[in-house]
Amino acid sequence: MTDCEPAVAVAHPNIALVKYWGKRDERLILPLADSLSLTLDAFPTTTAVRQAPDAPEDRVIMDGVPARGEMRRRITDFLDLVRERSGIRAPAVVDTRNTVPVGAGLASSAGGFAALALAAARAYGLPRDPVSLSRLARRGSGSASRSVHGGFAVWHAGDPGAADPDHASYAEAVTDARVDLALVAVILEAGPKSVSSREAMRRTVATSPLFPGWLRKSREDLGRMRAALREGDITTVGETAERNALGMHATMETASPPVRYRTAASDAALTQVRRLRADGLGAWATMDAGPNVKVICDAADAKTVAARMGEVTGARVVVAGGGPGARLRTEDA
Ligand code: PMV
Repeated sequence: MTDCEPAVAVAHPNIALVKYWGKRDERLILPLADSLSLTLDAFPTTTAVRQAPDAPEDRVIMDGVPARGEMRRRITDFLDLVRERSGIRAPAVVDTRNTVPVGAGLASSAGGFAALALAAARAYGLPRDPVSLSRLARRGSGSASRSVHGGFAVWHAGDPGAADPDHASYAEAVTDARVDLALVAVILEAGPKSVSSREAMRRTVATSPLFPGWLRKSREDLGRMRAALREGDITTVGETAERNALGMHATMETASPPVRYRTAASDAALTQVRRLRADGLGAWATMDAGPNVKVICDAADAKTVAARMGEVTGARVVVAGGGPGARLRTEDA
């Protein structure tokens, strides 16, 4: 491959079972606590990056059209970091294709920045070992650090007192999990959200009286989640994940001004999840920075859960399982 041929990478979104919510450093994207997620086998993003030495500036195409505004700025800021680290000043051409609605709380930025990090690292000759790649992806979007890995991953906040805190914060694969989880995504709305997760996080940390309590509990949740995954205890996995996610929403709803991603449709879906449990099914809900609800269940129950969620909400329902980490198209590897 010459410098000007595109490197193409594919990555999938991940859904956190213990959420990342709150930064201690906005520029370096360092979180206040560890988080843990499952990378999905649905909604891949495919991204091609090539150097364009003769171009006047970066060219960013998203789903066939030039990216604009905040989205373009986040991508070009990320490319600036890649140029700074590689010592190569050439502008880039980026062509990215999502299969997940962007900005709807379905974690498009996680798969998106993981794919961009890998393709850009290949195109600009940066290290591509999982730790380096996870650190790099983190600088695009915190949750992207986890999509570098397949299956379950834990993102370490890193020691705030470390000499180089940027270096200390990355995600690692969790390799001792003994549960076969499915995530049933209930897509209630696919449009972009009115408040970005970045802004919502900032506001929550600064103003919500509930945030310190949630953060303390979230640190405990991480230990409980790791043990439950190891022991194959799906009930504890589900209960911990649901409480962690609903607690996160309580923190943002008590920020000022409040951020509310939950809608009447989300509440109807959450009620239906409770009904499934009352009927004896192991099903628990999680939500991110958007109105959509994802139902956590044993893979063996996924079809039943999906049918029953579809029945009530009339929403598009997608069953996902654990998926692969970010990877280059074979001919680029
Ligand atoms: O990486 P960001 O800035 O899109 O953060 C998203 C954080 C949540 O999705 C709400 C939670 C998580 O841990 O993924």
